[in-house]
Amino acid sequence: MQLAVIDDKILPYAELDSAYLDRGTFFGDGVYEVIRSYDGRLFALEQHLARFDRSLREAGIEGINVNEVRGRVEEVFDRAGIPNARVYFHITRGCGDRNHGLVPGIRPRFFLTLMQLADKAANKENGVSVSTFPDWRWKRCDIKSLNLLPNVLARIDAEKKGCAEAILVNDAGEITEGSSSAFFMIRSGTEVVTRPLGPDILPSITRAIVDRLARASGLRVVEAPYSPQDAARADELFLAVTTQDIVPVVRFDGIQIGDGRPGPCTRALIKAFSEFVRDPQMNCKPGERSC
Ligand code: PDD
Repeated sequence: MQLAVIDDKILPYAELDSAYLDRGTFFGDGVYEVIRSYDGRLFALEQHLARFDRSLREAGIEGINVNEVRGRVEEVFDRAGIPNARVYFHITRGCGDRNHGLVPGIRPRFFLTLMQLADKAANKENGVSVSTFPDWRWKRCDIKSLNLLPNVLARIDAEKKGCAEAILVNDAGEITEGSSSAFFMIRSGTEVVTRPLGPDILPSITRAIVDRLARASGLRVVEAPYSPQDAARADELFLAVTTQDIVPVVRFDGIQIGDGRPGPCTRALIKAFSEFVRDPQMNCKPGERSC
């Protein structure tokens, strides 16, 4: 008889809930998104859905209608009634016997959680510490895939060092991005430097908004590779990620950045971001199609 074991329970393989046979679990064979809302309105939903659609295409997961995904996100957001929510969802290639190749008849599976967004106001107010870690990831980090073991190892290492985020450094000695965030430095007072988009980083939605806000406020945006040594000498550093938008970084591998407090450019960008999230173009309530 074919069997399965879940923790200490032995059961016939045929009786396994198919969720245990998800290719997402076996292989990380799926793609995901994280969206947030500000004060009852989903933020940058269309941008996240467009990136999700691209991830699905690049991963060759077929048959998904992104309009249906939008509908599910809006419905669950409406039903939950949590004004500042974090919406996580993924689609895997499906469930079936473990086999690297395609198993006939499997169909993609959708999974979503909606939770209260953690309050990390202190990070924004005081800044955080970060530490570097080797970028051990694969060569298509532009796909938001479920394969996150290198990111997880990096973050665990950072946490052990008392840091909030790991900054990944590739074999050429260049910073790529954070384990789950984009990374920026300010140099020469008004230059905002970040790594150019490419297969080695995620096209972060928050990064794109920071780029736009920085240009609009007269800062010069420079897309160029830079090293941990450059970062340690920067005027200011910050992280950008959906769940927290902009987070100042005040210590980099134990080295104090500036006077150890969030710097003026970062604070100005945080303010600009907080105004931008109220822009009706960037928000939508369930049922609205303007965003
Ligand atoms: N992570 N780079 C990586 C590797 C990321 O995982 C993320 C987001 C970002 C920032 O992207 P965005 O601005 O679109 O959130 C950059 C999500 C939040 C996560 O994995 O939970």
